[in-house]
Amino acid sequence: MTTQPIFIRHANQVITLKGGSTKPLTADGMNELHIIEDGSVWLENGQIQAVGKDAELFEKFQGRMDEAQVIDATGKIVTPGFVDPHTHLVYAGSRENEFNMRMQGSSYMEIMNAGGGIHATTKATREASHEQLYRESKRRLDQFLLHGVTTIEAKSGYGLTLEAELKQLEVAKNLNETHVIDIVSTFMGAHAVPTDYKERPDDFVDLVINEMIPKVAELGLAEFNDVFCEHGVFTPEQSKRILKAGLEYGLLPKIHADEIEPYGGAETAAEIGAVSADHLLKASEQGMKMMAKKGVIGVLLPGTAFFLMEESANGRKMIDEGVPVALSTDCNPGSSPTVSLPLIMNLGCLKMGMTPAEVIAATTINAAHAIKRGHEIGSLEVGKKADVVILDIPNYMQMQYHYGVNHTETVIKEGIVVVGGGTLI
Ligand code: NIG
Ligand code: FE
Repeated sequence: MTTQPIFIRHANQVITLKGGSTKPLTADGMNELHIIEDGSVWLENGQIQAVGKDAELFEKFQGRMDEAQVIDATGKIVTPGFVDPHTHLVYAGSRENEFNMRMQGSSYMEIMNAGGGIHATTKATREASHEQLYRESKRRLDQFLLHGVTTIEAKSGYGLTLEAELKQLEVAKNLNETHVIDIVSTFMGAHAVPTDYKERPDDFVDLVINEMIPKVAELGLAEFNDVFCEHGVFTPEQSKRILKAGLEYGLLPKIHADEIEPYGGAETAAEIGAVSADHLLKASEQGMKMMAKKGVIGVLLPGTAFFLMEESANGRKMIDEGVPVALSTDCNPGSSPTVSLPLIMNLGCLKMGMTPAEVIAATTINAAHAIKRGHEIGSLEVGKKADVVILDIPNYMQMQYHYGVNHTETVIKEGIVVVGGGTLI
């Protein structure tokens, strides 16, 4: 596809994050954003063609100025499109009633064990038509885009029958085709033990392994396989069986680990060589060390901890232990009903002790690696997808300092302006 080139000029800071395409950034590397002052970017044919000082790029492209759409970024910053590596995008309904119950003293697990929680959304999602799910999820996607997010991961897991899981994954596939945001799909049949399998959870594990995983893989509906490894949900042994079965069908392992109780989830992730272990609020020190050694990415979800009024994961310690850290909204109707990745970045600083630079690395290049896209998105480097955000702030620290504000002004997806002046185009 040929489109008009875009020349973004004179940004106060172009945050390139160069050099992390082959593996995620760790430790001090997460603070090195590789910033260019008075920087410019030339985008063409959906790709980044040049990044550098404005004077250099002007020299290079001055003969082609008439062709290009020139965007003046004076006083602003330019970043890679943000990446959200853990969402439960496709679901029906909402659960503000449970929020109300929690505000009156009930706990998240109590509500779930009484048939609410994931089970309530599963019921609503099973009953919803493809069109309804598409419509409700598209609305969330539009909001993600307005917050500067250009790629997300989306999990199934509110179907819990073969048919309903496929429906969710098909909606995600359709949305990926029609919406400008790129969606990377994860199968998460093992999100909860459905109520009718409560007395025989191993039969459900067998169903996931013998029927769901082979079908999802055959239809090419997912790249990853995820499981909720938690006391009262799936044990580390069951989780390992499910993740190994996925690997046999080419689905790469991810794991919801140590969210509510310390349960050996981080250790399980390292043992199995998971791409990421997510949540990790209660991860043990040993588990963190094992993850660092194996290069398992810790996808941290401080919005979930905030919304459940729990202590956040120890992001600071994980980075200091050498774990590659990414951040995500965990967008879902129960424990984190938000699409605001910028707010999650604020919480990454304020609740987990990460620096403003680290949270940017965690939502760009490291988030891209958490969904195996580090080679094509997550940094502003020649040859990568032209997914670019312009924020109306003079330096990257203001993104975290002026917290709770969406600073996104312009979003460019594969070389086309899709958000301008803060609204969808
Ligand atoms: O990532 N932890 C498990 N699943 C979701 C919550 C799902 C829900 O409450 O609907 C999570 O937090
Ligand atoms: Fe989740």
